[in-house]
Amino acid sequence: MKARYHFIHHACFIVEKNNTSIIFDPFLDGNPDGLVPKNINVDYIFVTHAHGDHLGSALEIAKNCDATIISTAEICYMAEAEGCKTHAMHLGGTHLFPFGKVRIAPAFHGSGIAGGHACGFIVDFFGTKFYFAGDTALYSDMQLLPQLDPFTYAILPIGDNFTMGPKDAVLAVKLLQPKYVIPVHYNTWPVIAQDPHAFQKDVEAQTTAKVIIVAPGQNIELE
Ligand code: NI
Ligand code: MN
Repeated sequence: MKARYHFIHHACFIVEKNNTSIIFDPFLDGNPDGLVPKNINVDYIFVTHAHGDHLGSALEIAKNCDATIISTAEICYMAEAEGCKTHAMHLGGTHLFPFGKVRIAPAFHGSGIAGGHACGFIVDFFGTKFYFAGDTALYSDMQLLPQLDPFTYAILPIGDNFTMGPKDAVLAVKLLQPKYVIPVHYNTWPVIAQDPHAFQKDVEAQTTAKVIIVAPGQNIELE
């Protein structure tokens, strides 16, 4: 059975399979679906770091639907103090959840919270395997990630300015060697305007990976 990937916008998406729904970096401000926190019903909320465009409405959604926030310890302790259910992890750690295994990968980026560290996630969601990089610069140890926990999809920022731009993201694809790449974190604002088709052309010319461009509000199926 395939999983459904719904791209909300920016770096926020929902993955669903087996009546389980997980959301990543629930930044809903200005999303084209007009989705508001009270209309979101998920089981788990993944948060890569505490910048506003990633932490977003995580606390409100967690309380509304009694969902568990999965993030780094600093963010989870803050969310717990606000009355949310959490599962704290940290860089290099893995945990087996009812839906499958999660690994917290490093991200080279600000944490947005005192003492914290930005992260990415490698998720095995009922057999659908993907890496969500969060906000990160390119770093050479990305090449180790698929050796630790293999994944089919790499969901990568390409916006530049705050994160990797398209040129660096092509190099990231060479290190990560996924079957598919889904670009995110671009065109939300003029400062991160990018042409995903140019990125697709470069990735597909230089690697064996296929780029899947998903528009805000669009669904795709994941293997
Ligand atoms: Ni950020
Ligand atoms: Mn960001």
